[in-house]
Amino acid sequence: MSYYIGIDLGTSAVKLLLVDELGGIKNSISKEYPLYFPNPGWSEQKPADWVSAVKEGIKELVSGFDATLIKGIGCGGQMHGLVALDESDEVIRPAILWNDGRTEKEVDFLNGVIGKEKLSALTANIAFAGFTAPKILWMKNNEPENFSRIKKIMLPKDYINYVLTGVHSCDYSDASGMLLLDVEHKRWSPEMLDICGITAEVMPRLFESWEVTGTVLPEISRELGLPSGVKVVAGAGDNAAAAVGTGTVNNGSCNISVGTSGTVFIASDSFGVDKNNALHAFSHATGKWHLMGCMLSAASCNKWFCEDVIGSSDYASEQAAITDDMLGRNRVFFLPYLMGERSPINDTNARGTFLGLSLDTSRADMTQAVLEGVAFALRDMLEIAKSLGIDIKRSNLCGGGAKSPLWRKIIANVLNVDIDLPLSEEGPGYGGAMLAMVGCGRFESVSACAASLTGVRATVSPDPVIASRYEEQYNKFKKIYPSLKGLFKELR
Ligand code: XUL
Repeated sequence: MSYYIGIDLGTSAVKLLLVDELGGIKNSISKEYPLYFPNPGWSEQKPADWVSAVKEGIKELVSGFDATLIKGIGCGGQMHGLVALDESDEVIRPAILWNDGRTEKEVDFLNGVIGKEKLSALTANIAFAGFTAPKILWMKNNEPENFSRIKKIMLPKDYINYVLTGVHSCDYSDASGMLLLDVEHKRWSPEMLDICGITAEVMPRLFESWEVTGTVLPEISRELGLPSGVKVVAGAGDNAAAAVGTGTVNNGSCNISVGTSGTVFIASDSFGVDKNNALHAFSHATGKWHLMGCMLSAASCNKWFCEDVIGSSDYASEQAAITDDMLGRNRVFFLPYLMGERSPINDTNARGTFLGLSLDTSRADMTQAVLEGVAFALRDMLEIAKSLGIDIKRSNLCGGGAKSPLWRKIIANVLNVDIDLPLSEEGPGYGGAMLAMVGCGRFESVSACAASLTGVRATVSPDPVIASRYEEQYNKFKKIYPSLKGLFKELR
């Protein structure tokens, strides 16, 4: 028997899984860390917090198990975050995260002055505020002293891998979200590095997600109670890792994640770019490709509304008042743009909005509007895919939001697609462990591993009556943002 550790370096917490060679989850541990909002729309974390959570988490994860059986570690991590290291590999400033909106000027420069066409030709993508390249430019423009000290640029999970192995690595799926990778040819783009004022030496070495980048350093192994020689694979961005963990590896298959962010991830065997660049064209952790849309606030909208606004952490009771006959009939609408929005509107000024309140509006109506607003925004991304000729008929669903039976039903009906609930709901962590298995030779490829370990536990199908009510509701929802767009900019 052998064991593998899967790490999901998320935004609110790190989740760690101990998985056996047959795919059985033997133990799981979650450790939270703080998120800092130093200015409205900014979002930062301290890499040292990730490291202590991962280290404490691994110690707890393996305690009581035969650690000598552990063969490999694979990490899926929050994408796009800028971790800048100095010449001693010390972190220069807090990491600027994927949902940070401070780079409006830099995004305008990249998309407007360098030009979307050129960016798309170089990287297969255009600039979005959360991507890494605009953040590098922001540091250059606003923190020149910090910028001048940069000797290595890392993504969040790559920093964890560096701490474990001493190797500066990055995988293609996560590198795709930096706007520095020539995604089609799988190499750093010299032109993009030049535009950002950095050199190739600053960039980590590129690997496929399942490739072994190193072994856990002896002193770290001793500290964490691991045997010597545990292999670490390059890992993946959390969405590609979640796609692996839910079995979304074959051409045209789809995974929707409702976590802090909400994503629609469509696997593809061939490289292809959305002509309007509304969906990201990234590498997949299988060695192939994917298209993806990302909304910045998904399950976080429900968390915010329940915990911070109405003061309840009992989500199930809040949702119990929402019955089937209410679905598709809500007069209240909610725009889920609490941190601005990425796909498809690319607007850092957009904000969360309730519309249609009246004196008879109930707490349940507003809770329902939040769940529906997220589902409508997911539908926006599916519509973009449809306009590219990709007709999604079914999708896997993972992330914290997937735990709510009501939310699953709303999503199935708003999108009007079959929603498959995967055997493992631990998307990125499970995918990370699977990548480690492939790296350690347990399976010959990521696809073979997925064929063997992943599957569907249950399916939620749309109800024709509810789905048609939601069709009308979606047509109303679609009109809200365009009429507020100008106002959002004015109110900023
Ligand atoms: C994807 C994205 C988010 C983060 C969340 O482009 O920004 O899904 O990866 O961790």
